[in-house]
Amino acid sequence: MSLAEHLGQRRFTAFSKATKDIETPCVVIDLAIVRSQFRLLAEAFPGAGIFYAVKANPSVPILETLVEMGSQWDIASRFELDKVIKHGAKVKDISFGNTIKKPRDIKYFYDKGVRLYATDCESDLKAIAENAPGSDVYVRVLTVESPGSAWPLSRKFGCDVNMCKTLVRQARDLGLNPRGVSFHVGSQQSDLQSWAQALDSVKSIFDDASDAGIELDLVNLGGGFPGRYLHEAPQLKEYADAIYGALKARFGERKLKIILEPGRYMVGDAGVLVSEVVMVSRKSEDTPRWVYLDIGKFGGLVESWGESIKYPIYTTKDEDKNREGVILAGPTCDSADILYEKFRYQLPLSLKTGDLAYLVGTGAYTTTYSAIEFNGFPPLAAKFYDSEKQ
Ligand SMILES: Cc1ncc(COP(=O)(O)O)c(C=O)c1O
Repeated sequence: MSLAEHLGQRRFTAFSKATKDIETPCVVIDLAIVRSQFRLLAEAFPGAGIFYAVKANPSVPILETLVEMGSQWDIASRFELDKVIKHGAKVKDISFGNTIKKPRDIKYFYDKGVRLYATDCESDLKAIAENAPGSDVYVRVLTVESPGSAWPLSRKFGCDVNMCKTLVRQARDLGLNPRGVSFHVGSQQSDLQSWAQALDSVKSIFDDASDAGIELDLVNLGGGFPGRYLHEAPQLKEYADAIYGALKARFGERKLKIILEPGRYMVGDAGVLVSEVVMVSRKSEDTPRWVYLDIGKFGGLVESWGESIKYPIYTTKDEDKNREGVILAGPTCDSADILYEKFRYQLPLSLKTGDLAYLVGTGAYTTTYSAIEFNGFPPLAAKFYDSEKQ
């Protein structure tokens, strides 16, 4: 496949225009794709609250696009909070989704008007009761680590089912409004069963709350919806069918408020990282080529750790069908800055210094991870265009 086939001819033409004379490395983001991802989610999960996980890409043009679409917001810090409010988000649409937070930050959110908080432990719950009195809270339940996730998030956040049950009752006793349960099945999750498993825990917590006279109604399904990388994941409709099937099996016709927190799905496919080949070399005659790009782990490709996320890569030499597996590395003087070594991208033999490589699906978790001035390289630049408005 070529980049034109990957993007589709119309979007490729707009991309080519947007990248004319571009300085590399740069992530080029098509805002039309952000809009269409939002629409696809809204169609697949009708009536659900779509809370964009701002951490995936907090760039202003993306925030403004999502404000226009009517997005809501999963916020991790007061810095994200200030930024989304500045660019048009309404506080009623915000959830403070980070379970790890300072009491004074909770107060900061409360003073701004935020009334929805995630929690996963007693000390945080008490801090919420003290600093955000009367607010809505949802408890985050630990999920089983699933091999279907390319970027697991299950160990650090959440608590077990029994502790969630206790927290729900404590929330009520502390004068808060316990609303429901959240979880995250791990980012880039291709195992559809993992939502059903997590929903077993949610149901058990809802039932226990009912026994205590507390009627929960909020189910926060988290993120985990896929970007389009080398190993393809199921289609969004298959996720929705699996999730709605699992909800129905556990909750029947009960009326629930469903929330999603998409990060990767919303912005991943909108980005193409344009990078220049710095050098191609071999360490000896009979070993593979090393291709050094002007982007590496410290410039934003952190998700190449463990070679878990593999972006489709195209080059300006793609008409050359003579290919050979290469080791791909970044430009810094740091030996950890190797992107893919076990997995060998088959790149054209004619690839050389000055050619361009296009890493597709890089709109999420790249500019945000970009380290400032590591080895003197500046943080990853971004450029925005709209293939429907050129
Ligand atoms: C609380 C929370 N919600 C949503 C997300 C977004 O997940 P994804 O990018 O898989 O959609 C994350 C990612 O770290 C998260 O921590």
